[in-house]
Amino acid sequence: MAISIKPLTPHFGAELAGVDISNHITNIQFGEIREAFDEYSVLVLPDQPLTDEQQIIFSQRFGILESTRALNPGSGTPFARQSNLDIKTGETIPLSDRRMFYQKANMLWHSDSTFKSVPSLCSVLSAREIPPVGGATEFASTRVLYGRLSENEQNKFADLVIEHDFVYSRGIVGFTLSEDEAAKFPAAHHDLVRKNKNNGRRSLMIGAHAKTVVGWSEDQGRTFLENLVLRATAPNLIYRHEWRENDVVIWDNQAILHRATPYDTTNHRRLMQRTTISSSMPTN
Ligand code: OGA
Ligand code: MN
Repeated sequence: MAISIKPLTPHFGAELAGVDISNHITNIQFGEIREAFDEYSVLVLPDQPLTDEQQIIFSQRFGILESTRALNPGSGTPFARQSNLDIKTGETIPLSDRRMFYQKANMLWHSDSTFKSVPSLCSVLSAREIPPVGGATEFASTRVLYGRLSENEQNKFADLVIEHDFVYSRGIVGFTLSEDEAAKFPAAHHDLVRKNKNNGRRSLMIGAHAKTVVGWSEDQGRTFLENLVLRATAPNLIYRHEWRENDVVIWDNQAILHRATPYDTTNHRRLMQRTTISSSMPTN
């Protein structure tokens, strides 16, 4: 039976049913998922309880997994852990703890891993434990934004290169890295305009890690980039995902911005496991 696809907004996003991704999926099934991914940019798959092992096997169908870097509790594993639960004890982490502070940057509109020289193709996020209220994730599409640019803007943007910097994006929320930590995150340069290899659709690589436009003054670059994020994330263009336990959501880091929203981290538990698939090639 073919996988069913239900669009979530008029612009992007779709919910998929009729496939169990915890088990081996056929090449035909993966082909349908991959095609839907290129078309809709955000895929929601409800009711997919996954173990870590199953999540890795499924994620590897998309490509090579990134290994999580320093600072995230999942460091050194294929998982980025988005959680208020201590990885060792399972207890909630106090608000004042550096680990909670670090997660604040997730509330800025961003695409994952744009600060790496080889950026990410997509992320797979599995909802293991969710709070009863709050903790939704919001999504916006820079492919949709690209389609709304004037021809003049499209022409001008074609030549722009953006500097992405993890140290910069953490700095926005006041999180500072030690010199040793910062040394692990050199800045990366990427073309502003990204083209999907399978369908040729263009999008913009922007978001919290995008620090400035190469060759422009930092102020000018920042104003330009902030304005693009504002346009991409206009309220009528976003998709807000209210999580149910065992939802799996896949998003295209080449076309999608996303951000976390608040929840009561003192009284409620949230555990999301993310695998991140590399695009395996530098962008310029
Ligand atoms: C992520 C992320 C947002 C959230 O996993 O990359 O930004 O709501 N998550 O947990
Ligand atoms: Mn993210």
